[in-house]
Amino acid sequence: MTSTMQRMRRLVGSGMLLGLLALPSMAHAADGLPHEFQGANLVKGQQYYTDLKCAACHAERMMGSTSAMYTRPDRKVHNPKQLLAFTQMCVTQLNHDLFPEEVKDIAAYLNQTYYKFK
Ligand code: HEC
Repeated sequence: MTSTMQRMRRLVGSGMLLGLLALPSMAHAADGLPHEFQGANLVKGQQYYTDLKCAACHAERMMGSTSAMYTRPDRKVHNPKQLLAFTQMCVTQLNHDLFPEEVKDIAAYLNQTYYKFK
């Protein structure tokens, strides 16, 4: 017997229902970004990413590849929240004190370039 409740629970478990609920608000978003990245400035994000030399350290660990950190099969980031958290962690490790808005800009840039979360 598949009751509506069971189906609902499965949807919630898979995060699908949340995704569906988020749809109406996303439809209003001009840039179609996950809500975590709404309002982010991708151009600034790329600028910070370049200025802070994020890719150099990653490449050192990834046999010279500047993208492998984000595309490796066992990558750590699986959703926008984790992307924000990891970005913050690496920024902190760099001893850089950025505003949350700036961290968001960088994360949104990485999302646009590599992760493509919707
Ligand atoms: C000093 C070295 C270093 C620098 C500089 C650095 N990172 Fe990282 N970063 C790492 C390492 C090491 C990992 C992998 C950590 C792990 O696997 O647990 C990582 C992982 C990440 C990930 C997660 C990748 C995944 O697995 O999906 C993101 C996102 C990230 N870094 C963003 C940044 C950003 C943005 C900057 C620049 C502000 C930056 N990093 C600068 C060392 C660095």
